[in-house]
Amino acid sequence: MSCYAKNPQNKYVPLGDANRRMQTEAGDGDELEVQQGVLKCRNVQDKQKTPLRNQKWQSKSPILNGHVPIDYSLYTYTNLQVIGQGSFGVVYKAKANETGEIVAVKKVIQDKRYKNREIQIMQELNHPNIVETKHAYFSYGDSSDEQYLNVIMDYQPETIHSYNTKFLKQQQLIPQIQAKLYSYQLLRGLAYVHTKGVCHRDIKPDNVLINPESNILKLCDFGSAKKLSSMEQNISYICSRSYRAPELLFGATNYSSQVDMWSVGCIIAEMFNGLPLFLGTSAVDQLVEIIKVLGSPSREEVISMNKEYDIKQYNIVQIRKKDWANVFVNEIDPLAVDLVSKILTYCPKTRLSAIQALSHSYFDDFRDENMFKIYEKNIKIPNLFDFTKEELQSNQQLVNKLIPRWYDKRNKQ
Ligand SMILES: Nc1ncnc2c1ncn2[C@@H]1O[C@H](COP(=O)(O)OP(=O)(O)OP(=O)(O)O)[C@@H](O)[C@H]1O
Ligand SMILES: [Mg+2]
Repeated sequence: MSCYAKNPQNKYVPLGDANRRMQTEAGDGDELEVQQGVLKCRNVQDKQKTPLRNQKWQSKSPILNGHVPIDYSLYTYTNLQVIGQGSFGVVYKAKANETGEIVAVKKVIQDKRYKNREIQIMQELNHPNIVETKHAYFSYGDSSDEQYLNVIMDYQPETIHSYNTKFLKQQQLIPQIQAKLYSYQLLRGLAYVHTKGVCHRDIKPDNVLINPESNILKLCDFGSAKKLSSMEQNISYICSRSYRAPELLFGATNYSSQVDMWSVGCIIAEMFNGLPLFLGTSAVDQLVEIIKVLGSPSREEVISMNKEYDIKQYNIVQIRKKDWANVFVNEIDPLAVDLVSKILTYCPKTRLSAIQALSHSYFDDFRDENMFKIYEKNIKIPNLFDFTKEELQSNQQLVNKLIPRWYDKRNKQ
């Protein structure tokens, strides 16, 4: 698998030198990170939006993803429309002219001073619930210093956010069966990412792609993702505020992948309520919103979130926790409530991991052959059980629970 792309002078440029998000990981650049991101965003958007629309292009760089059997660098593409304008780049819907295949192209400005983790991490991932990187290459602006990384991915028509918004406009919610299918696949994608030692760090409804016809879900946007190491400090100012885990709000720098699980808990709850569960207006207010539901954390819980926290400073008014059933505005499956309550816990270690959450009884009816058949008659169900050994290695005891026997039999027939 090649990690190089050719620049206009026909020299190979190592992809590792490129950067997308200004992550210093020293905990020192929070303000800077945001300001630089916004600045880059303006540059990228202003320059790219009009001129690139409907432009035909062909990339000359070698294929980057060893998992994809087709060489997408051989194709020419036509941009059809801008589908995403994130804080760090633009995402286009595009067409491969030779095959007619619709793809998504994410174009982000590069800063050679920083490493680009996004593409490195994406190249390592190969899973049905993770967006597929088909190809990536560099392109250049007016000067060769102005470098962009273009990532060609499979295209998905909606995100959890856009789909939820459609229902909200009609004063409705995502149907519960779809919410359940999406929750399950989100957990599956995340269990895989975590098995790879990667923490996504920006799980939010906009970063979860779905196709409401096939009901397939794919996790995207690995721009904040990182392989966490206990030897290294990590910035706590990460993840969109409404989905930010309480340990991050308490300033932890030695957190684990469990921060992603908190975000998943928030997304599941949001699919049931239609609106974000914790919608704070600042980091402090975000904690207040969490406390209103979970009650004030005990001193032990604060230490479990951030052992560096100066507990002498801890002086939060004692607020009692709410009954989880009352947190939801509609009548929902009590098993779903139980799952959310076990994910949204202060202590990251007692919070369910992705693989544990998959084995929760809320998802048992997917594993029940009769129930599965009933679902199948009413709705498209993607493959939920094609686990690889890699995915299951994190907890062998759960293997039997996660793959129903009838599924094995059905596959052998
Ligand atoms: N493969 C894809 N198929 C369809 N839409 C996509 C795809 N990838 C991204 N998008 C859309 O583009 C948006 C921005 O993409 P992405 O999150 O990767 O970029 P970003 O610049 O990191 O955004 P942000 O900083 O806002 O999270 C997504 O929220 C989604 O709406
Ligand atoms: Mg995003």
